Amino acid sequence: SAIEIFTGEIFHFLANPGLHSEASGWEWIDDGAIAVCDGKILARGKRTHLFETYPDAKVNEHRGCLIMPGFIDTHVHYAQLDVIASFGSTLLDWLERYTFPAEAAFENEAHASLLANLFLDEMLRNGITTASVFPTVHKTSVEAFFEAAFARNLRVLCGKVMMDRNCPAYLQDTVSSSEKDNLSLIEKWHGKGRLLYSLTPRFAPTSTAQQLQMAGELLHAYPTIHLQSHLAENVDEIRWVKELFPTSDSYLDVYDQFGLLGERSIFAHSVHLSSEDKMLMGKNQTAIAFCPTSNLFLGSGFFDLSQAVAHQIPVGLATDIGGGTSFSMFRTMTAAYKVQQVHRHALTAWQAFYLSTLGGAKALGIDAHVGNFEIGKEADFIIINPEATPLLSRRYQLTQTLEEKLFVLMMLGDDRVISGTYIAGKNASATLTGDC
Ligand code: GUN
Ligand code: FE
Repeated sequence: SAIEIFTGEIFHFLANPGLHSEASGWEWIDDGAIAVCDGKILARGKRTHLFETYPDAKVNEHRGCLIMPGFIDTHVHYAQLDVIASFGSTLLDWLERYTFPAEAAFENEAHASLLANLFLDEMLRNGITTASVFPTVHKTSVEAFFEAAFARNLRVLCGKVMMDRNCPAYLQDTVSSSEKDNLSLIEKWHGKGRLLYSLTPRFAPTSTAQQLQMAGELLHAYPTIHLQSHLAENVDEIRWVKELFPTSDSYLDVYDQFGLLGERSIFAHSVHLSSEDKMLMGKNQTAIAFCPTSNLFLGSGFFDLSQAVAHQIPVGLATDIGGGTSFSMFRTMTAAYKVQQVHRHALTAWQAFYLSTLGGAKALGIDAHVGNFEIGKEADFIIINPEATPLLSRRYQLTQTLEEKLFVLMMLGDDRVISGTYIAGKNASATLTGDC
């Protein structure tokens, strides 16, 4: 079938570049191109070389722009779109005051469908092509999200939020209703198109031991589904978990007890972990979604990336909308940089872009499909125009090295520099903001 070539500066990672400026694992092809066929990466290389190899291909010129794998948001709540920018709170109060009331509305199919589409528009406009998404407790909220994502052929993860205690009655399920809904949603959606099911117990305080037990049983009964939750975000939350599960050694230990850790599991925040916790997560390759704008907005704390990396824990970056404050992965990387500065560590642009692409894919256990331009991977990519805004354009031109270019882009970029978002080789950008 038809081959298409996209020309530009090709930039992606083949491995973790590490934490220092003397980075490896990345590839930058000057005056390069990728060739796409059947929604997959067919080839990458020099522009002229691909023209010779595929003389009949349709050509899309983006010279002067960067072509990168789409960003991966490893943790976000589509049902919190209307909660973003709610003033002056910390986690538990914020959940009660703003978040739970907003989530109530997702029992309604029309509302859920509208918000799912608004969310996906905004995500794609920001160059995010894959996300691990929390809906609400309602089955309708999952149906609406998967339907909208399926129509756009997206590789996303989602699963019904499970919570059977410590939340308003209008948001509660039970062990049996939760199991029944999960089973029917898994059968209907897991593996349909590019969709993946992820079990979603909200966090330890809102599930009974019986419900967490059931989640662990499902995770093991279906060896290809995933699991997402929250962990050790806030000190009051941690104290509460200690009261609710007095026999557990730590917050992480609660999840471990019920068999919820492992390569298919990702936990948002994980800001306050003991070294034993970190060792365990590294050992069984349980991933962390680092949510810097959310951690700053809710005053949760400063995640220590170097420590996590030292323990070999897979880490991805995440917007955590609506606790997080921006859909932009650039804004998220900038916040990550500032949070690491608090630990006297300067996050390199290499590591930041890695966390936003291949690192996120690895953290979610989907790097066989997406995350870079290896041959055969799904062609989800973005066109970045570094001339899109006057200040960025000027500053970018003053740079000498690739690392400086990336750093300037990460600090000054936003949705305006995303001039195209491609899903499986097809242009999906609702609005083209740049001009390349
Ligand atoms: N912990 C439990 N639920 C949530 C949520 O919706 N957002 C954040 N940031 N933390 C949580
Ligand atoms: Fe969250």
